[in-house]
Amino acid sequence: MSWRGIIEAYRPFLPVSNKTPVVTLNEGNTPLIFSPRLSEMVGREASVYIKYEGLNPTGSFKDRGMTVAISRAIEKGSRAVICASTGNTSAAAAAYAARAGIDCFVLLPKGKIARGKLAQALMCGAKVIALRGNFDDALRLVRDIGENYPVAIVNSTNQDRIEGQKTAAFEIVDVLGEAPDYHFLPVGNAGNITAYWKGYREWREAGRSKKLPKMMGFEAAGAAPIFHEKVIKKPDTVATAIRIGNPASWKQAEMAISQSHGLMDIVTDDEILAAQKWLAMNDGIFVEPASAASIAGLIKCLGKASCRKCPLAAELRASLLPKAVTIVCTVTGHGLKDPDVVDLHHLKPVTVWPSRDRVIKAMGLSL
Ligand code: F0G
Repeated sequence: MSWRGIIEAYRPFLPVSNKTPVVTLNEGNTPLIFSPRLSEMVGREASVYIKYEGLNPTGSFKDRGMTVAISRAIEKGSRAVICASTGNTSAAAAAYAARAGIDCFVLLPKGKIARGKLAQALMCGAKVIALRGNFDDALRLVRDIGENYPVAIVNSTNQDRIEGQKTAAFEIVDVLGEAPDYHFLPVGNAGNITAYWKGYREWREAGRSKKLPKMMGFEAAGAAPIFHEKVIKKPDTVATAIRIGNPASWKQAEMAISQSHGLMDIVTDDEILAAQKWLAMNDGIFVEPASAASIAGLIKCLGKASCRKCPLAAELRASLLPKAVTIVCTVTGHGLKDPDVVDLHHLKPVTVWPSRDRVIKAMGLSL
């Protein structure tokens, strides 16, 4: 039977009933792609897989949470939804709200949203309000408005979002037949790492796996409140999706890290961009900068000197790594969301007149 979205696939594990009107774009069931080169970099028969969440209908993992959040909002009689966003949540909210035929309001930090994401929200009919402020200002206002007006909040402060997003962990275990040893994720508002950890635990309780992964979260160095254990007033990073100084699921993320014996660490903008380019050039997977934080995190852990607290680095140094270690890195959003990033990589086409000789020369071949 064809795939009908995460609610139909995992209905008994989600907060829905037969009365819930399912609003879906057939999200989920995204590929888990083996990366031979990353596996080789880890060594010792390791297997590294990329969970390519950019292949969801609106190009990010947010669709998993949004199908549940919007379906439940409709069930409760909501006629409008609101979210704060660094871009992807707004794109998903706008699309699912359009599908449901309800109003969608989004509050965004002005000038800090990747072009593709803004286009998605506008094209799907959301009322887009650009704030002269950052994501944390937007979320504060959304919480206030959601409490005082008849609009349902669809940020990850809404538990339905977490419930939907946990299905990515289910899919990984279903494909691998067991949970991975390590799971690498970018961290912004910290909803996704919370959701994955919940998913892995529930799937183990359901008897689908025997083990749990170590959760490895990576914040951008300029927007790393959990790592620094303090609110960052002016977060800044090239990875605009995770430009957040006061994450909503802060405590839950800390719990996921400590319960799983994992790690919360940072990656610099240079490391993020290098990983983004590496993944595109070596695996053919073009992701947005924030998504590359998971790959940058894995590469950082493989470096010998860095990552002193890192369990993976420690195991590698001590040669304790079990044979055939399995690592999953989630890449959260599609590269096409943020095409302007190509300028930061100083990549551009070669321009020539349409003559055979000039094209041959531009190709680097001899005439
Ligand atoms: N990667 C991408 C591409 C994102 O858009 C986000 C969050 C994250 C990672 C981090 O996930 O917040 O659950 O820790 N984007 C939100 C948004 C904040 O508004 O689209 P998180």
